[in-house]
Amino acid sequence: MLMGQTRSILTTGVTGFLGARLTASLLAATSATVFCLVRGRSTEGAAKRMQARLSALGVPAEHRTRVVPVFGDLGVPGLGMPPADFDELADSVRTIYHCAARLSMVSETDRLSAINVGGTETMLRLAERGDGTVLHFVSTLGTLGASRQAGQPRVDESAVPTEVTAGGVGYTTSKMVAENTVRAAMRRGLPAVIHRPGLILGETATGACLDSDILVRIIRTCAEIGLAPRCPGWVPAATVDHVVRSITALGAADPALVGSTFHLADSRPLLLHQVFRHMRTAGYMISEIPTTEWEQVLREHPESTNCFAVLAMWKAVRYLLGTDPDHLFPQVSCDRTAGVLAQLGVPPSPPPDETLFHRMFEHLSRTGHLDTPPVLAAVAPG
Ligand SMILES: NC(=O)c1ccc[n+]([C@@H]2O[C@H](COP(=O)([O-])OP(=O)(O)OC[C@H]3O[C@@H](n4cnc5c(N)ncnc54)[C@H](OP(=O)(O)O)[C@@H]3O)[C@@H](O)[C@H]2O)c1
Repeated sequence: MLMGQTRSILTTGVTGFLGARLTASLLAATSATVFCLVRGRSTEGAAKRMQARLSALGVPAEHRTRVVPVFGDLGVPGLGMPPADFDELADSVRTIYHCAARLSMVSETDRLSAINVGGTETMLRLAERGDGTVLHFVSTLGTLGASRQAGQPRVDESAVPTEVTAGGVGYTTSKMVAENTVRAAMRRGLPAVIHRPGLILGETATGACLDSDILVRIIRTCAEIGLAPRCPGWVPAATVDHVVRSITALGAADPALVGSTFHLADSRPLLLHQVFRHMRTAGYMISEIPTTEWEQVLREHPESTNCFAVLAMWKAVRYLLGTDPDHLFPQVSCDRTAGVLAQLGVPPSPPPDETLFHRMFEHLSRTGHLDTPPVLAAVAPG
């Protein structure tokens, strides 16, 4: 029960990479009570997991007292809550940041729909039951990854993703359906904002990043086999701190921005061959070979978890590598977003450079997901 809370913020995905940092940022930027949807076997266990996540990120105790765990599961109708609690939650929140999703690049759309589409529909129901509740929906630029196949080599914030632009990848297709469900609700009058991050890279200061997202899996595979694909691919990307800063600022300005879509990425795409160069400057011995040969080498190593994982994600991987002209990301314009963020005082995303990648490699080696970068180990103090 939520009992007598004033209208506040709800975040989903608080235990995740982006949602935890966004929740921390909203706690720091506002004095609002922040309800956090969290799942688990028991209410107590879920609350502990959420508090541990925020505490590990350094969220001060006085901010954590404003956090209210909401025990629920996006994959279950009505979050699995008694209807009275759902209504009370709807009455209590003024703004929803819907961040949670299942990010599998392997699963087909129907395996992901219950959470990614059904969960978004539930958030829409929650928002629509409220009184002027604003929904911020975190989508992905991956929904537009195959836009060239729809005859759109360049996309901006007005682009509407379709089955074709989502490229037949289960995850991006489920996010496309979810995003278009939010767009339909906007047409019915729901105040909502759509945020489309590109690939979310590690934290600028610490390099903390996801340990097995699509790019990190490619990096880990290249380090393991000493080979990288020689490829023309690119992907829109930004650090997690830029994405968090942007959503927080856009959220604070939301009455003026409802109905908008934003592209949260550096205006220059991340080139995959640059990532491989950063690996070499960190001391990883990797040679580049044609992409078709690289794919073949992966097939010859089914015992390697990394090779297996990259092959399992191949439908999505080929858009990062740009395996052929049809599978090359479109040019993504972030101009409109950059203009709005500049007005809000948010600096542009710094280009993801060598320093950032070296920090990400160090983070991955500290957490046991990558060998220590040889050059960086050689210069480490002590
Ligand atoms: N990472 C990227 O590069 C990237 C790029 C573009 C867009 N995005 C979008 O950004 C958002 C956040 O991604 P992320 O990288 O932070 O992902 P993540 O680290 O995998 O976090 C996913 C979050 O969703 C929660 N969740 C999953 N299923 C749930 C369910 N049934 N009920 C309640 N919560 C559930 C997870 O909770 P548990 O801890 O309980 O599993 C976790 O908190 C997603 O919407 C994603 O589509 C991510």
